[in-house]
Amino acid sequence: MLRPLIYLSALSLLAGAVAQISEQQTIIASSVLNSSCPFNFYGQTYQQIYVTISNDTFAICFNGFYNPQSRGDCIVGPQFPFNQITFYTSKYYYSTHYSCEIRLYTTYYYYLNFPYTQFYLYNSDTQSLVYLYDGNQGSWVYDVQVSGVTVDKLNVTNTQSHPYSSYVADIRGCRHSGVVYKPGAVVTSDPVTCYSLTCDASAVLCNVTCDPSEHCQGNGICMSGACTVTGPTVIDFYGQLNSIQDLCTYSLLSRLSDPSFQVLANFQERRRKDVSFVDSVALVLSGSGIFINLGQGGVVQVNGVPLALNSSTQLVGGVELSKERTGVTAKLSLSNYTASILFDGYTAQIRAAGPAGSLVSGLCRNSSVSLREVRMPEYSVSGCEILYNDTADSSINCSAETQRCNLLRASPFASCNGLIDPQPYINACVDTMCRYPSVDDLDCQFPQAYARACSLLGNGTVGNWWSVVGCSPPQAYCPDRVCSSHEFCARSAGGGSSCFCRALFAANYSSAGALGDPTVCSSNSASITVVGCLLEEKNIRYSALHLNDRRCRGQMDELTHMLTFSFNTNNTCGAVITNNDSYITYSNAITDQYNSSDIIVRHDQVYIDFSCYYTQPQIKSISFRIKTNSVVQHITSGAWSYTLTMTSYTDTARTQALSPSSEVVLDQRIWVELKTDGLDGSVVAVVTDSCWATSDSSPSGSLRYDLIVNGCPNPADQTVQMQENGLWTSNYFSFDMFQFSEQSADVYLHCNVQLCVRGNSSCIPVCSGAARRRRFARRRPAYEEEAAAFISMAWTNQLC
Ligand SMILES: *[C@@H]1O[C@H](CO)[C@@H](O)[C@H](O)[C@H]1NC(C)=O
Ligand SMILES: *[C@@H]1O[C@H](CO)[C@@H](O)[C@H](O)[C@H]1NC(C)=O
Ligand SMILES: *[C@@H]1O[C@H](CO)[C@@H](O)[C@H](O)[C@H]1NC(C)=O
Ligand SMILES: *[C@@H]1O[C@H](CO)[C@@H](O)[C@H](O)[C@H]1NC(C)=O
Ligand SMILES: *[C@@H]1O[C@H](CO)[C@@H](O)[C@H](O)[C@H]1NC(C)=O
Ligand SMILES: *[C@@H]1O[C@H](CO)[C@@H](O)[C@H](O)[C@H]1NC(C)=O
Ligand SMILES: *[C@@H]1O[C@H](CO)[C@@H](O)[C@H](O)[C@H]1NC(C)=O
Ligand SMILES: *[C@@H]1O[C@H](CO)[C@@H](O)[C@H](O)[C@H]1NC(C)=O
Ligand SMILES: *[C@@H]1O[C@H](CO)[C@@H](O)[C@H](O)[C@H]1NC(C)=O
Ligand SMILES: *[C@@H]1O[C@H](CO)[C@@H](O)[C@H](O)[C@H]1NC(C)=O
Ligand SMILES: *[C@@H]1O[C@H](CO)[C@@H](O)[C@H](O)[C@H]1NC(C)=O
Ligand SMILES: *[C@@H]1O[C@H](CO)[C@@H](O)[C@H](O)[C@H]1NC(C)=O
Repeated sequence: MLRPLIYLSALSLLAGAVAQISEQQTIIASSVLNSSCPFNFYGQTYQQIYVTISNDTFAICFNGFYNPQSRGDCIVGPQFPFNQITFYTSKYYYSTHYSCEIRLYTTYYYYLNFPYTQFYLYNSDTQSLVYLYDGNQGSWVYDVQVSGVTVDKLNVTNTQSHPYSSYVADIRGCRHSGVVYKPGAVVTSDPVTCYSLTCDASAVLCNVTCDPSEHCQGNGICMSGACTVTGPTVIDFYGQLNSIQDLCTYSLLSRLSDPSFQVLANFQERRRKDVSFVDSVALVLSGSGIFINLGQGGVVQVNGVPLALNSSTQLVGGVELSKERTGVTAKLSLSNYTASILFDGYTAQIRAAGPAGSLVSGLCRNSSVSLREVRMPEYSVSGCEILYNDTADSSINCSAETQRCNLLRASPFASCNGLIDPQPYINACVDTMCRYPSVDDLDCQFPQAYARACSLLGNGTVGNWWSVVGCSPPQAYCPDRVCSSHEFCARSAGGGSSCFCRALFAANYSSAGALGDPTVCSSNSASITVVGCLLEEKNIRYSALHLNDRRCRGQMDELTHMLTFSFNTNNTCGAVITNNDSYITYSNAITDQYNSSDIIVRHDQVYIDFSCYYTQPQIKSISFRIKTNSVVQHITSGAWSYTLTMTSYTDTARTQALSPSSEVVLDQRIWVELKTDGLDGSVVAVVTDSCWATSDSSPSGSLRYDLIVNGCPNPADQTVQMQENGLWTSNYFSFDMFQFSEQSADVYLHCNVQLCVRGNSSCIPVCSGAARRRRFARRRPAYEEEAAAFISMAWTNQLC
């Protein structure tokens, strides 16, 4: 009697499955039912179901009919009203797994849509559960029993307002000596040997103990060997060696759950594009969202914020951080897991500990894995997939380097050879030293790493190894020097430490033979940027550099270490200005030419010339010519008879007079001299009282622009400067050339000049300094009003 199936279950049929459904059976009394698929109940596999229906009990058992004395595996509850029970099994085959479902339900109520009860046993590769759906009112309990012991309960509570309830119990587990263990439970454990028997996550009993790369600490915790990351090489806990080829971030240790943490190493290039170096080490605690970066120069950042550290320990999110002369140490402890990371800028060394069988993944766990599996491009700054090439360094004598690397087998390192195999360290040394020049104390990093691994693993210390191999005592690389991201730190020729350019960054400049970026010319200024680390490489002190005018020094950006020199048309810093038909050129140079007192020189002399051409159309097209280069007025008035001359120049010394053939461009500085002849300078002084420009020849023209007002520069025009006014029988002023914005071709310049009799009071007009405002009235009686003169000159931009 096969009937159409109705799926009331919450666990509905997934797409893509092939179903095989057995014939349904109906029972009205206690019966044995055969399931067409085996299922798991707390670690025991069954295929038969014993249903007990009595006046006070309803039970589904798997190893015999229910009997409180026989201690069976059962689901036991009180009797409930029913007329008959329907049973069938379904098997579902998915592409990746299969599942088995067994149903038992009260037939009558099901049909009439009355309250009914359904038991549902679900089994798949990863899950085993019992599911109960009940619509009877009242409160009662089904006990889930293993060997007669209740291990779980299904508590039914149905009220009139909440008539239906569903309950699920996980029936996975392991059995050992008749006892049931839930997945993840420890069955037996011996802290002294770190041996333990556990019910693993997939409900399988398994033996765990420390890994061969670990040793039991006697407290149930396994301590790893040492993992050493130096230069491009990684030596894992087992002593296996691998070498990183690209500029990427890799996982050294990673535990993805409970507790989750990761230790990452970022690899960057230094002097060669084809050799990467561990540049920083990071600790990621995903639970608390904390990211601790141990960078170059002992700089520690927590979520991007620098942390001031010294030898006293600071606790950040369960990580103890401290800084010694030899490097930065981070000690992580999360529940029973610990990891200690030491980073000195060149070498990272890591040990980890945790309960047996809890080894995490990452390069330190197994450096032989495919590098792609441990690559973390999401944390990387540079191209992870690119392998850069570089020309081989012919200065490297690989056999000499190999000999040196083999010193790790000789005294004093030999005392450690029994504790830790020197071979991977020798191989790492050879691998690196045959590709990278022996600079920046690189050849000392490998003996140092080996000596420190030795002291990390045992109580062995390789005493005074540094003097034997010609190195300095261990100390952190470039303490507290912060280089920018395109730089790395190394010992400088002077003995201190400096930031040098990374190879990829430097390649952009060295291919062009440049020390910096191209000149940036803007409308009235010029600037050039020189790269600090390129100067370091050439041993040039940036503070010695200046422009033509020695007072003009570069601005060093503290973050990027870029040195910027600039000048503008106000302050040309000694730029040489040349002017031809189509443009003006401002030429300047960065140089470190010495004072004559410098006797010796230790580096190449610097000379970087740069210039800006101004070819903007409005500047090119608008140039002015003076209509008359010099105007002369003869003034005869009363006692006074003198000649007033107005002449314009392009230089402050007033040697380059403008001629009708010379051109002047907008913004070019003009000096106008008002000079008298025939006056006795001991009696009178000449005061230029006012000068103004008009767009037509009339001095009272409607478009008027003031340059000198009441003997002082017009405060509204900061380009105007007045010199020697009221001092002698001549004076001059300067301003930047302009034009009237309303299509006027010409500029007429008019000046009123007064004679001032020298007496008790000064003839010098008082102009307020900064704002150039007159503070008080001139002493007018001193002027010889009748001897005043008026003079004009004209400019035109209509060339030809
Ligand atoms: C159930 O299986 C057993 C043996 O596996 C068999 O003896 C018995 O007849 C089967 N019962 C039914 C109802 O199929
Ligand atoms: C079940 O009912 C029978 C008769 O109705 C009675 O003799 C027996 O004691 C009951 N069983 C239990 C366990 O109460
Ligand atoms: C089920 O009920 C029992 C008592 O009947 C109680 O001890 C137990 O905590 C309950 N379990 C749940 C999950 O409510
Ligand atoms: C666990 O190891 C012990 C001895 O090492 C062995 O007797 C036992 O059978 C193992 N148990 C399992 C589940 O592998
Ligand atoms: C370390 O720094 C802390 C404050 O940042 C200070 O209180 C402490 O004295 C310092 N310890 C040492 C040894 O310098
Ligand atoms: C840590 O291990 C001890 C025994 O080694 C154990 O008692 C304790 O529960 C463990 N703690 C955690 C959080 O796993
Ligand atoms: C490391 O990984 C490689 C490649 O997956 C594997 O062959 C090797 O057995 C692993 N070694 C250890 C100690 O797990
Ligand atoms: C490096 O050289 C190889 C072969 O000479 C070439 O295939 C590869 O593209 C080069 N890589 C780069 C980054 O130039
Ligand atoms: C390389 O070093 C070895 C051993 O120090 C030496 O014998 C050999 O002459 C050196 N080769 C060159 C090319 O310098
Ligand atoms: C420490 O060194 C001493 C002497 O070299 C040795 O006897 C002892 O076993 C070592 N202890 C450890 C924990 O390695
Ligand atoms: C080098 O120059 C290229 C092209 O200008 C630019 O894309 C690249 O980012 C530069 N590389 C570095 C390291 O500055
Ligand atoms: C030139 O100098 C004046 C006054 O010193 C100043 O206001 C102006 O901004 C300067 N111009 C430039 C381009 O620096």
